[in-house]
Amino acid sequence: MDPVRNPYAPGAGQRPPELAGRDRELRQFDVVLERVAAGRPERSLVLTGLRGVGKTVLLNAMRSAAIGRLWGTGKIEARPEAPLRMAVAGALHIAVREVAPRHRAPERVDDFLGVLKAFAMRDAAKGASRWQPNIDVPARRGRADSGDLTIDLTELFVDAASVATDLGVGIALFIDELQDVAPDGIGALCAACHELSQARAPLIVVGAGLPHLPAVLSSSKSYSERLFRYLLIDRLDPAAADRALSVPAEREGVAFTEDALAALRAAADGFPYFIQAYGKVAWDAAPASPITGADVRVSAPEAESELAVGFFGSRYERATPAEREYMRAMASLGDRPVGTAEIAGALGRRPASLSPARDALIKKGLVFSAERGSVAFTVPHFGRYLRDQPA
Ligand SMILES: Nc1ncnc2c1ncn2[C@@H]1O[C@H](COP(=O)(O)OP(=O)(O)OP(=O)(O)O)[C@@H](O)[C@H]1O
Ligand SMILES: [Mg+2]
Repeated sequence: MDPVRNPYAPGAGQRPPELAGRDRELRQFDVVLERVAAGRPERSLVLTGLRGVGKTVLLNAMRSAAIGRLWGTGKIEARPEAPLRMAVAGALHIAVREVAPRHRAPERVDDFLGVLKAFAMRDAAKGASRWQPNIDVPARRGRADSGDLTIDLTELFVDAASVATDLGVGIALFIDELQDVAPDGIGALCAACHELSQARAPLIVVGAGLPHLPAVLSSSKSYSERLFRYLLIDRLDPAAADRALSVPAEREGVAFTEDALAALRAAADGFPYFIQAYGKVAWDAAPASPITGADVRVSAPEAESELAVGFFGSRYERATPAEREYMRAMASLGDRPVGTAEIAGALGRRPASLSPARDALIKKGLVFSAERGSVAFTVPHFGRYLRDQPA
């Protein structure tokens, strides 16, 4: 069918044509927004899940919900080398700019921008960044510029929240790939959020990241479990998977046969990224509506080769030879989390000699440590992909 009208959107962070199966999470977030704006005690949300399961698009949908309630919002995609201070400064600048035009006391906004500038320039002075905040007001010394990230973040958040309080709204800071924030940044974020929630100040940090993110947060601050509510973002159930495919098609006047939906359910295994990938090629392959099981089966190899390059291969490429060997050993042991001792056994090595490879794979976000002493792939179906590759 007409590829121009193809609604499906495989790709990292690509907004899906239908955000299926996430109503519960969005409702929970709405409650958080209302409670926080009303000064009621509430935990913020942290989304965790495997690669391609839809964390980023859900985070973006939550951001839209916050904007819909006239909140100020900003978003960061954390990277291991990027200093948190700059990223937070940029995101909060955007968040406050969103609400500033509605503020009746422009000098309150300017005061905050002065603090924000001092906060941002604290790092610039050390030569850590070339980023110059595009803020006309002079930096306001003596607040959020001590150099201690915990103190500075707390003061900055309190001041941002107080600008929002004037308007009866809140500020939401969204941080994607939260597990990539450096340990000092994680600690400072937790401590600042802790302060804010005690003061009932309306600023929340909403995070998203890989399955071991709760462990990262709690190893930094033991109270993080009380600070955040963890939502496990999982595969779509069969009904939601069908909706993700059929609702966008219906809008284009196109249907799927039951056989086609069953074939797509089997191929995609409930993973949103795969649903988009297989749906897209099936649409292109089908001569006319309805899309049939045969269309799905004929087109599936094309989706598989696209996934092999874009979803699996691009990640495999990032690993060194030693890391690849480690992952191949993992894959050979099956699709459950596997014990590190088992992997060492499969490779005929001492477990300690494999720690550098394992740690590097965790840093690269390819592997996470599941229960004690075991590891698993962050990328769904990665084991199968590796087993299919020629050695
Ligand atoms: N609820 C959903 N319904 C339908 N499609 C979805 C849904 N959630 C995500 N998708 C699709 O799945 C793909 C992956 O989404 P996204 O990039 O948000 O995943 P992610 O969990 O952030 O992955 P990563 O860990 O690699 O960043 C995108 O193509 C998106 O359109
Ligand atoms: Mg993402």
